[in-house]
Amino acid sequence: MARSFPTKNDLPAKTRSAMTGLLNDLLASAIDLRLQTKQAHWNVKGPNFIALHQLFDTVYTNTGLWMDDMAERAVQLGGVADGTLAGVRQRTKLKAYGLNTVSGDQHVAAIASALSTFGKMAREAIDAATKANDADTADLFTGISRGVDKDLWMVEAHLHAKR
Ligand SMILES: [Fe+2]
Repeated sequence: MARSFPTKNDLPAKTRSAMTGLLNDLLASAIDLRLQTKQAHWNVKGPNFIALHQLFDTVYTNTGLWMDDMAERAVQLGGVADGTLAGVRQRTKLKAYGLNTVSGDQHVAAIASALSTFGKMAREAIDAATKANDADTADLFTGISRGVDKDLWMVEAHLHAKR
């Protein structure tokens, strides 16, 4: 368990500790998601190349904002943000990204799955933070969840016309 620091933040220490753990869990998957979007940005091929190349970079940028907000909230609550490679590897809930992912559809499916997994985590985290009476952390997760839903729509829309 990482150490914690004293703060005049009036949330109970138990709540702050629980929220720090939750934030670090989502932080690890957000960092993994961020790496996966760059992997897709670099390696996608096919007729939708430029649209997907740019879209994956947009998701990368958005994920970076979520990552930073979660890490900084963990520190605001007196905790330690764990953005280390070892910590991310241990905590991420995302499936490993396949090196043989090539076509636009394959990358869309992979990034949609990663966004879906992370979005589910964010929705569960809203409930956990609400139950812990930390409305601010719940609000942070709510904003992230809404952003994930939007990016998932933008990614999945590439598949829908084919059905
Ligand atoms: Fe680039």
